[in-house]
Amino acid sequence: MEGQGKQVTGYLLFSLGTAVIGSLQFGYNTGVINAPEEKLRSFFNQTWLQRYNEPISSGVCTIVWSVAVAIFSVGGMVGSFSVGIMANRFGRRRSMFLVNILAVIGGLLMGFSTICSSYEMVIAGRLVIGLFCGLFTGLTPMYVGEVSPTPLRGAFGTLHQLGVVVGILIAQIFGLEVLLGSDKLWPLLLALTVAPAVLQCILLPFCPESPRFLLINLKQEEQARKALVRLRGTEDVNKDIQEMKEESAKMAMEKMVTIAELFRSAAYRQPLLIAVMLQLSQQLSGINAVFYYSTGIFSSAGVKQPIYATIGAGIVNTIFTVVSLFLVEKAGRRTLHLLGLGGMAVSALVMTVSLLLTHITAMSYVAILAVMLFVAMFELGPGPIPWFIVAELFSQGPRPAAMAVAGCCNWTANFLVGMSFPKLVEWCGPWVFLIFTAFLIIFFIFTFIKVPETKGKTFDEIAREFGGALPPATSSAEDPGATSSTAITLQASSPEK
Ligand code: GLC
Repeated sequence: MEGQGKQVTGYLLFSLGTAVIGSLQFGYNTGVINAPEEKLRSFFNQTWLQRYNEPISSGVCTIVWSVAVAIFSVGGMVGSFSVGIMANRFGRRRSMFLVNILAVIGGLLMGFSTICSSYEMVIAGRLVIGLFCGLFTGLTPMYVGEVSPTPLRGAFGTLHQLGVVVGILIAQIFGLEVLLGSDKLWPLLLALTVAPAVLQCILLPFCPESPRFLLINLKQEEQARKALVRLRGTEDVNKDIQEMKEESAKMAMEKMVTIAELFRSAAYRQPLLIAVMLQLSQQLSGINAVFYYSTGIFSSAGVKQPIYATIGAGIVNTIFTVVSLFLVEKAGRRTLHLLGLGGMAVSALVMTVSLLLTHITAMSYVAILAVMLFVAMFELGPGPIPWFIVAELFSQGPRPAAMAVAGCCNWTANFLVGMSFPKLVEWCGPWVFLIFTAFLIIFFIFTFIKVPETKGKTFDEIAREFGGALPPATSSAEDPGATSSTAITLQASSPEK
């Protein structure tokens, strides 16, 4: 593939940029709820007072608050699980378009909650927004993976995570009291998600449908060719078309793979295990313990103005995602993921020491540094790579189902960490990050033993290494041995290509 695929056109960047608005939305809605916590609690109280003529008890208030936070991930689980059905039925582009309706509904529900004196609207809005974000965590990486030239698929795949981190940063900044995090404006802060949704709907009709979807799923070769010519900026797209046709021919018997088939077929067992473990490594690394609760972590380490340290973490987060974007095609996915997990484990240890020794003043600086390093290491590998590697590990047939399973695991783990972290802090105190250190070490070992390098390989080459291009019936029933032996070859494959 070298040479031919490296054409980056304005049109490709435009299409990628449009898709990545979905990632921005995911990041924004992840980050937006933290800053206005106090305002929301007092709104719950006012509503309660109006309805029942008594203030809300602090226990009930905390329950309503926790539900408003956590229901987002529940929506995310359901949304991500529905990705496969949507992407196959409506195509990648139309799905993105349609899903934006959810952002408008969710945003309006939250935006009008104070006018209607209804905290239920905040909760319903968060649920709908969660659904919306769950769908985009599958749709954006899928679309980006499918329109990108092979040699740049990792770099462009990282754009999804870049969208996420920029979204988080925007939410952190807009959430400041002097901007939209005030008593009056917080509903607008939550409703702002409608604006990018509208923008994306205006831009999407100018983007192409994924050429792989057109050719492999719909058998529309001419349409696929047209889309590719515009994306690559050259008439000579034969190599791309050829590669897709090969994938398509191998998949001729493979029809669309359902989630049940994905689990049943031995051919997909190895890539599925890797996809799921990588998603878990992302969430169980503890990154969202930092993103959801960093202000609290900083205050307990004695930091004077924790909100600014939190924004600092958001900035480091963004910078290192850009670093990863430039490194990923050189260093490879496997190496960066290992480096990131290892670096995070070390940072988590340093963080534990700083939280244990708070009587030493300098330790508050060590805590800030450790958090920054933790976040930076996350963005080198564990942040961006799991999102796009799933699209790489599977060919066109099983890809949507695999994205659904992987995305759902990610959201479930996200939910579990988000819900349990405050309790874990109560139980473990300053030792809490050691739990994540243990997970990080386990995932480091798993990655080292099992994860192959996918850099520079076509989807078909990757699938072939797993034996995944075989139709599931043949691979699982007739020749399971062939699959597992291929998988063993892969485990031993070197990261350097
Ligand atoms: C990843 C995670 C998300 C996290 C973010 C932080 O996208 O999936 O849960 O909040 O990175 O940058």
